[in-house]
This record gives sequence, C-alpha cells and structure tokens, in this order.
Amino acid sequence: MDNLDWKNLPFGYVKTDYNVRCYYRNDKWGELEISSSEYINLHMAATCLHYGQEAFEGLKAFRGKDNRIRIFRCDANARRMHETALGVKMAPVPPELFKKAVHTAVKMNAHYVPPYGHGASLYIRPLLIGSGAEVGVKPAREYYFMVFVSPVGPYFKDGFKPVDIMVCRDHDRAAPLGTGCYKVGGNYAASLTSLELAHHKGFSTTLYLDPKEKKYIDEAGPANFFAIKNNTYITPESKSILPSITNMSLQQLCSDLGMKVEKRQVPFEELSTFEEVGACGTAAVITPVRKIVDPDTNRIYEYCTDGKPGPVSTRLYNKLVAIQNGDDPDTHGWVEFVE
Ligand SMILES: Cc1ncc(COP(=O)(O)O)c(C=O)c1O
Repeated sequence: MDNLDWKNLPFGYVKTDYNVRCYYRNDKWGELEISSSEYINLHMAATCLHYGQEAFEGLKAFRGKDNRIRIFRCDANARRMHETALGVKMAPVPPELFKKAVHTAVKMNAHYVPPYGHGASLYIRPLLIGSGAEVGVKPAREYYFMVFVSPVGPYFKDGFKPVDIMVCRDHDRAAPLGTGCYKVGGNYAASLTSLELAHHKGFSTTLYLDPKEKKYIDEAGPANFFAIKNNTYITPESKSILPSITNMSLQQLCSDLGMKVEKRQVPFEELSTFEEVGACGTAAVITPVRKIVDPDTNRIYEYCTDGKPGPVSTRLYNKLVAIQNGDDPDTHGWVEFVE
C-alpha cells in the first residue's frame, strides 16, 4: 500500500480489501466466507441490537525485519472470546474457526500489514453478534462471526511518553459481579461518559475503582493497571476487569526477569508507595503514568518525575515490542506466522 503514510496512521478505521464472515444457524457453524463489503445485512430484531449480545476482540499482526507476518497471541484472544460468548449466552466460536478466520483476514489483506520499523501494525477485530430475531429477553438462536482488519499507526507518535490520568468515582464501567470481565460492547458504552469527562479535563484516561466499595484499583480506562514496587509487578485481581492479554504477557516477562509478580487487590492508598505506574493493553502495550489526579481530594500521585517512563516499564515495553516484531526470540510461543 504505497499510498498509506504508515508513521502517521491514526488508531482508526482504514478500509481494507476483504473481511471474513461465518454464520451460526441450526445449532452449527457454517463455512467461512470472504467478503469485500464493509456492510452486514441484519434483522432489526437481532439480539445484538436490543439485548447487547455482542462480543469483540482486539489483537495485532506485525511485519518483521524478515518480512514475515506475525500475529500476537491469537490463541489467547480466541479463548477470551470463548469466555465472553459463554458469559452473555452466545454460541462460542470454536478456537480453530477463530484462528482460521483471523489468519485468513490477515492473509487476504497482507499488503496492509505495515512495513517493519514504523511502529505501525495491522489491528485485527473479531466480532460476534446475536443475529437471530427475538423480542423477549433471551439468547438468539443465530449468530454472526466476522473478522475485519485495519492498519493502525504507532500509538505513541512522539515516542513512548508518560500521561496523566484522573480518578473516577462518579461512574463505573461495570458492576461488581457483572460483565466487566467480558469483552462486550455494553462495558464500553458505560465508560464513554467518564472517558469524555477525563478528556475534557485534559487527562488521557480515567482510573476506575472497584465498583462495590471504591477501595481498590480496578482499571485504567480500556486498559489494565499495573505498578512496580521493590522489584515486584503488582496488578489488580478483580471480577470487574477484563483479563488483559498484554498484562498476562508482562507478568510472564517479569517472572522471566526474576521479578516477583503479585496479582491481588490493590488498595487505593497504595498509590503513594509505587515507584512506577502504567496502563497496559494491545493498543499501546504500555502507557506509563506520570500523574494520577484525584479530583475529590485534590491529591496528586506522581511518578516519572523526570518526565521519562520508569526503567522497568521501559524494559518491559521494549521486550514485548521486540517479541511482537520478531527482533527477540518468542520463547513462550506467543507468535503465529501467517503463511
Ligand atoms: C477494558 C479493557 N481492559 C484491558 C484491555 C487490555 O487488554 P489486552 O491486553 O488484551 O488488549 C482492554 C483492551 O482490549 C480493554 O478494553
């Protein structure tokens, strides 16, 4: 794609040539179809439109120096979508079908996978919706699974830089025992007001607290929270947060480095004791946090006081990006090649 400015691509939708689709009807999945249309034909009573039977995933493909295309942790995303589907009573996509659909979508659009060295990648968006018509509140009998892709630019256009985030107590993105641990659209709709509020106030995202007691840290906008203290990687254990695949990967890298990993409730007061704080997810890998501002108490928790990301966050970021791009060996079997 000679006409794409890889370095300045936004994190947004860019039309590609093909997407793949598959129907679930009469209790079984059909054949994978390749489409060049960006549109779907949907019944107006489809359960995804009324009752939120909708699941999605987000993963990326990278082009290495060797020109080969690598998909990062496709199997983990397949498993998470399976869990989400069960969580909102949808027909789960078998992992082999998920993998085939993702690989086909990437392969068919291979020339949209950005060249090595620009920090850009191909974002992959699997989507599962209840397509069967129902009026009563119940699961659909028919489902539609799609995968489309879109080239996206580097998340940090000016380099890996710390951001400021704002504590949010007036909104929750999920209920204590609700759907926060699933990747369903409703959680994102629930987060839009608080995210916009944070953006208006000049913050990059919101810091959500546990929705039951507001005593513990939950998530940092659409990303997991982690902190570094005493050579330990600390990340919240909570029923209302999405199990981030980036977070799982960072935990593994920390263990590899001989660091301690603690997945546990993280009391809000502990913020003042951390050496480094960050948000992690597919979009940016790691977003280092410079300041956490609590608008209710006017308290400010500061990290990266020299304006630079902390050493552990930097090391983890560089290591994960190197594995994704094929610059470092993939010792955990996280990468699948598109052949
Ligand atoms: C709410 C939420 N938390 C965390 C994450 C990070 O998850 P992952 O690392 O799998 O992208 C995401 C992004 O997918 C998210 O939407």
